[in-house]
Amino acid sequence: MREVSASPPQLVNSWNEWDPLQEIVVGSADHAAYEPTEPGHRPQVRARPGQPAPPFPSGPKPLDTIERANHELEGLVALLESRGIVVRRPDPYEFSRPLRTPTFEVDSQYCATCPRDVLITIGNEIIEATMSRRARYFEHLCYRRLVQGYWSEDPNARWTVAPKPTMADSMYRTEFWEWSMSQRYEAMHSFEFCISQDEVVFDAADIARLGRDILVQESMTTNRAGIRWLARHLEPRGLRVHPVHFPLDRFPSHIDCTFVPLRPGLVLTNPERPLHEQEARMFRDGDWQLVDAPQPVLDERDMPLHCQSSKWLAMNVLSLSPTTVVCEHHEEPLHELLDSLGFEVLTVPFRSVYEFGGSLHCATWDVRREGGCEDYFPHLRHHQAPGA
Ligand code: ARG
Repeated sequence: MREVSASPPQLVNSWNEWDPLQEIVVGSADHAAYEPTEPGHRPQVRARPGQPAPPFPSGPKPLDTIERANHELEGLVALLESRGIVVRRPDPYEFSRPLRTPTFEVDSQYCATCPRDVLITIGNEIIEATMSRRARYFEHLCYRRLVQGYWSEDPNARWTVAPKPTMADSMYRTEFWEWSMSQRYEAMHSFEFCISQDEVVFDAADIARLGRDILVQESMTTNRAGIRWLARHLEPRGLRVHPVHFPLDRFPSHIDCTFVPLRPGLVLTNPERPLHEQEARMFRDGDWQLVDAPQPVLDERDMPLHCQSSKWLAMNVLSLSPTTVVCEHHEEPLHELLDSLGFEVLTVPFRSVYEFGGSLHCATWDVRREGGCEDYFPHLRHHQAPGA
């Protein structure tokens, strides 16, 4: 008798932010460069009280800064592996090189510390985001070997590369950087940021997955055409794409320091950036709890000098399951909150990674979790997606 061959492995499968984690990619600080100034980004050194801010540096990041971040990333890898989770790492890439394409030039690139921004798994599909910043246009190359491998070995895996925008000057609204805080406040509900609406633009980290329901934040890194592209791509597969907005965030980019789903029925929210009233209805009507994160332990002025993200990196947690969460080691008020909500809280030191733009959720990209596509919002069954 012929032997029945084993069924092919299912390598790509992740429908939400919390199901039991099986395989993940953890970023690396190797060969990172300071992010350049460009129309979609104006990095600034955090001024210390009474001191003028020096100009933002350029070129490769110092070796000791890279080593400290890598050490903490290794700590996360060790924790995940001790839990039986398969961990993969990006390929090396020299980020201090300039880039020249037919439509733009930029003095250097950035880093492979935040795979979350570049790739997302939605069910059996891996989507490479368009990206929104010139310096990050080719970041997907650090993960191509991995993506190609998943695609080759898992016959059910789908691999989609979203259309690359021009990133020409015309894609950006440079006045954005000159608007005063009061102008921003007045225009709070127009949701116009540094990218215009003409091209399809999104970063993967503006997306949060809740089974059938996919939230996409409109931001400095994702525009309305980007959300429309995602809706047209995903809704024929039975998913519902919901554009979401946090009007009090004047510089929104990436949803995972603002609205962090932890398990069915529970989202960790940012007390300074509430979800738009109307958009919060789907959660209230579905009896979900939105629980505010406590104030982070580090003040804005204590964050690493070159970190371009806010203190809310504190709430950028990584779920290993609906009952286990990994948090930054020093964030005790958050540990206590999660503990009181019934979670097992694991911790790793991660503050040295902050200056590379992210914390635990940003620095990872989950490829496989147990479980399938559930409908956590059955009351939306007749919902008409605004998408296409
Ligand atoms: N813009 C966010 C904040 O400062 C940081 C988001 C970082 N997330 C990420 N996936 N890189 O609050």
